[in-house]
Amino acid sequence: MTQKIQVANFAALGQVIDQAKVDALHASAVAAVEKLEKGTGEGNDFLGWLHLPSSITSEFLADVEATAKALRESCEFVVAIGIGGSYLGAKAVMEALSDSFDAYKPGKCKVLFAGNNIGEDYIAELMDLLKGRKFGIIVISKSGTTTEPAIAFRLLKDMLEKQEGKEEAAKRIVAITDEKKGALRSLATQEGYKTYVIPDNVGGRFSVLTPVGLLPIAVAGFDVKALVAGAVEMEQGDDTDVFTYAQTRNALYQAGKKIEILVNFCPRLHYFAEWWKQLYGESEGKDNLGIFPASVDFTTDLHSMGQWIQEGERTIFETVLSVGDQNATVVIPNDEANLDGLNFLAGKRVDEVNKMAELGTRLAHVDGGVPNLLITIPALTERYLGQLIYFFEKACGVSGYILGVNPFNQPGVEAYKKNMFALLNKPGYEAETAAIQAKLQK
Ligand code: PA5
Repeated sequence: MTQKIQVANFAALGQVIDQAKVDALHASAVAAVEKLEKGTGEGNDFLGWLHLPSSITSEFLADVEATAKALRESCEFVVAIGIGGSYLGAKAVMEALSDSFDAYKPGKCKVLFAGNNIGEDYIAELMDLLKGRKFGIIVISKSGTTTEPAIAFRLLKDMLEKQEGKEEAAKRIVAITDEKKGALRSLATQEGYKTYVIPDNVGGRFSVLTPVGLLPIAVAGFDVKALVAGAVEMEQGDDTDVFTYAQTRNALYQAGKKIEILVNFCPRLHYFAEWWKQLYGESEGKDNLGIFPASVDFTTDLHSMGQWIQEGERTIFETVLSVGDQNATVVIPNDEANLDGLNFLAGKRVDEVNKMAELGTRLAHVDGGVPNLLITIPALTERYLGQLIYFFEKACGVSGYILGVNPFNQPGVEAYKKNMFALLNKPGYEAETAAIQAKLQK
């Protein structure tokens, strides 16, 4: 039998909401799927992700793997430069699959990230690390004009060219961008870089299964074929889980639950939640609507945010990512003196304690008026992560249409950029510079 991730709804427990309110949204959810399939909804020019997994050919994956292998073999470090959708998917999958202490283990080519912030110390420290080392660059930008990655690329390209010479540097740079448009496309053509295309109809936050995510993930040594195969399973499966999640979260939102926290009990999933926050935040937060997506790492954050979640304002619900099997087995030993009083746990696996913390927390939260949804992931493998990615993407499209917004645009992201360019005197922004300076002087 094919094993899959599974979604269960415990929202009706503790009478936080009535199941009938969830069921009442089924017709809207079905209509939303129809809009996606027929391309009749808002944002229909960005539906390339919908049947993306099944359209990925083995030839294409072989090419990605060959590029990854060449980079791995010639570099100690590969820096993936990108931000938002051009960063978070790769980071999420790599963190979920990596040994937590990989960074301290010698020998393997390591993927590092840049261009996902404008921290001067961050880039300085990275450049310091890369000085005199063999490194390569994957520069990722759909628009090809985003400021954060453009700054990081200018700096690291210059450094690589100085270290290796222009010709060798060009062999170690791969650009992932639009087929025709943008500064990065022109630059890549001029410099002769290997390139991959981000399809026009796939928005940044839905692009992890394009080369944007696949190449860095492959460079890190993970199985992109299995990742895609997992996504295909979800794409070709039925929509039961998508309906459960999309209907329940909308019913909860209508009942006043304005915040959703994505909860994990597995530290490797921290960045998966960061990817999810972008997916749902950018897709639904518009027209003065939308659940605020937040996340917590338990049990760590039970010692910081636990109090608020248990007893704070009752506007919150949670979606728990529960991982079945751990890779390792660590058993708590018996201690004759038992000075720490922990012998009641002797002989138990650490994960058994974690699982009881998970169940105990969910029950406590339901009792405290925090409904929860449970997503069970059999294990942290490429295949299940592929399933999870596609599940969240599809549920996001359905949920956004139920909410009544266009889930595939992000007009609000431009506001800060306009101000930043005006403040930095970017050519073409003269009127905005004058207006913002006048505002600051008031
Ligand atoms: O989802 C999105 O569209 C954004 O988060 C983008 O991915 C992000 O702004 C980076 O854009 P680009 O890939 O054009 O550099």
